[in-house]
Amino acid sequence: MPELVIEGARRLDGEIKIQGAKNSILPIIAACIISRDECTIHNCPKISDVYASIKILNYLGCTTSFENNTLVINSRNILKNNIPDFLMREMRSSIIFLGALISVSGQAKLCLPGGCELGPRPIDLHLDGLRQMGLIINESHGILNCETCISGLRGCNISLSFPSVGATENLILAAVCAHGETIITNIAKEPEIIDLTNFLIKCGAKIKYNGDSTIVIQGVKKLHGTEHTVISDRIAAITYMSAGVVTSGNLILKNISEDSISSAIPIFEESGCIIKIFDKNNLKIECPSRPYSNRIIRTMPYPGFPTDAQAPVMSMNTIADGTSMFIENIFSNRYKHVDELLRLGADIKVEGKVALVNGVKRLSGAKVCARDLRGAAALVIAGLGAEGTTSITGLNYLDRGYENIETILSSLGAKIKRI
Ligand code: UD1
Repeated sequence: MPELVIEGARRLDGEIKIQGAKNSILPIIAACIISRDECTIHNCPKISDVYASIKILNYLGCTTSFENNTLVINSRNILKNNIPDFLMREMRSSIIFLGALISVSGQAKLCLPGGCELGPRPIDLHLDGLRQMGLIINESHGILNCETCISGLRGCNISLSFPSVGATENLILAAVCAHGETIITNIAKEPEIIDLTNFLIKCGAKIKYNGDSTIVIQGVKKLHGTEHTVISDRIAAITYMSAGVVTSGNLILKNISEDSISSAIPIFEESGCIIKIFDKNNLKIECPSRPYSNRIIRTMPYPGFPTDAQAPVMSMNTIADGTSMFIENIFSNRYKHVDELLRLGADIKVEGKVALVNGVKRLSGAKVCARDLRGAAALVIAGLGAEGTTSITGLNYLDRGYENIETILSSLGAKIKRI
């Protein structure tokens, strides 16, 4: 089983470029099939979730090429409208292909994503919205069999009871080629959704925001291919900033998007970091010799503090001066990294959605196992800050979302290798 071995407590110093956003590229890849044309996507991260999406594209009949972070997808000859179980299971967020497949052919057959490492992951909001648009959905033995009636999907008014990222994306993908106007209220407002809609508009979709919580989509007959550059990954940026904090480092992050990480910047300032944004897309972070603890961190839908950053930021608080409280409001099972951080000497107590972190002076190396993507990042951060050797297994999770993480950290002075 591959492991990452880290000799910790080495200061990180230097400059890195932040990768393209995982949560943008995945729905954009699904959106490409609606164009039934050629799309060229730049700044595409080389992560396993992207490779899993490419496998789905190839299964459906698309041709693809992926070189130097540019992904070219030709979807002119899509042959299928189903996704087999083994491809769905490889990446839980493959449910995002549902709305796209319906737009392409009016039919889709795929298995339910089921529970995952973050707890149960229902898709009731996706399905309720699609049903309102006239989609007939038969659910049986974990398989979704979907088809539109003869007149196809029709626009309607949909109000989401929670601003689900995936439901917002699936409904947008279904609505772009539906008959008439679809108005969705209480949408998720994540920057990755704006990136998806910018991409779709370039493909010929008619999409407008009405205020910041409502989207109006005028269905068009067809889309066409385009060229697009994916936005920067805000969670990767926060991960590297947290790694800077645990090692008292000085980092320059290039290719960031200031707007999208603005809810996280006060957290780092509260820790005692000095942060400067320069030349619009670059960020300099100077970290103190020991951070102050963050008093309270509540995960919330955007523009609140992102749930995906909870684990990395918890790691930096394990060695902070003081106590911090985390309240995880988005996913019910997102503290799996806590037991592993305890092995490194952290002092954390969890009660339901609350975790109380009492900062200790230092962590010490141990053998730990990652059990979800951002939890894996949290263990890397903790290992970088810990005295001695930390070895981390469960790297399949890490590789879902981080491109070349050990090469990047090595370039900053970390002693880290994959064996
Ligand atoms: C996306 C992100 C993930 C991030 C999450 C929240 C991608 C590929 N993944 O996941 O990294 O952590 O947003 O920012 O973009 N829910 C329902 N019913 C539904 C849909 C969701 O109850 O039909 C609940 C979920 O169980 C969860 C909450 O809503 O508790 C948030 O889920 P959602 O916003 O849909 O997250 P994802 O799209 O799965």
